[in-house]
Amino acid sequence: MSLILQISDTHFGTERPAVVQALARLAEQLQPRLVVLSGDITQRARPEQFRAASDFMKGLRLPLLVVPGNHDIPLFNLWARLTQPYAGHRAAFGQELEPVFRSSDLMVLGVNTTRAHRHQNGEVSAQQVARVARRLARATPAQLRVVVVHQPIDVQRPQDVPDRLIGHAAAQAAWASAGADLVMGGHIHLPYVMPLPGLARPMWAVQAGTAVSHRVRPGVPNSVNVVRWNASQGTCAVEQWDHVATEDAFEQVRVTRLQPAR
Ligand SMILES: [Fe+2]
Ligand SMILES: [Fe+2]
Repeated sequence: MSLILQISDTHFGTERPAVVQALARLAEQLQPRLVVLSGDITQRARPEQFRAASDFMKGLRLPLLVVPGNHDIPLFNLWARLTQPYAGHRAAFGQELEPVFRSSDLMVLGVNTTRAHRHQNGEVSAQQVARVARRLARATPAQLRVVVVHQPIDVQRPQDVPDRLIGHAAAQAAWASAGADLVMGGHIHLPYVMPLPGLARPMWAVQAGTAVSHRVRPGVPNSVNVVRWNASQGTCAVEQWDHVATEDAFEQVRVTRLQPAR
């Protein structure tokens, strides 16, 4: 059994300290094989916000896979945005913007879907789609195959359609054919697990809410996802853990059981 803890949209600079501490306790308790941070790490890409994020993530003392979100590119400093948009991200989390994690039963592929010239809207290029597909094709049957983007690969509500990743249809078709099981994302601060229709193989969007920021939607508390993959049985469970203020803790509130194709 391998666990992945998905954290998203931490927006350091707007974090709730008690929720940050509760999340650290959850990670300590779960001891996941990998912690994924799917972008919007900071609120405004400021050095002190990246420092707080880096201190928190590295303090977990667990393997990390981190991709940037639109908030991790400078917004107001146009010169910095256009000449070195990822300087802050790289100083905190390393040069690689599309990290890869492989173990005997996991293949997790990060994709940088941010674009400095668009700022908010995310995009996946034909080259990125093809590169991820080539890597997916080398996965073993035992490996759960997870692609990590920032903006959602698909949405459920009409009002979220403008936030959907540009290039989503081509990416869904290619990545499903190449063997992907899950596409993790964030950005809209709304957690859900959604089967993606009309593809060659079953594939699911796994969307995370905001883990620790006060930038929550009404009625949608801070949350994270926990993915449990049992390679020998070929079963996968995606758990949503919400922060429950009265308990000062994250609690499991929903479990979606999936059967990836093999
Ligand atoms: Fe966000
Ligand atoms: Fe975002």
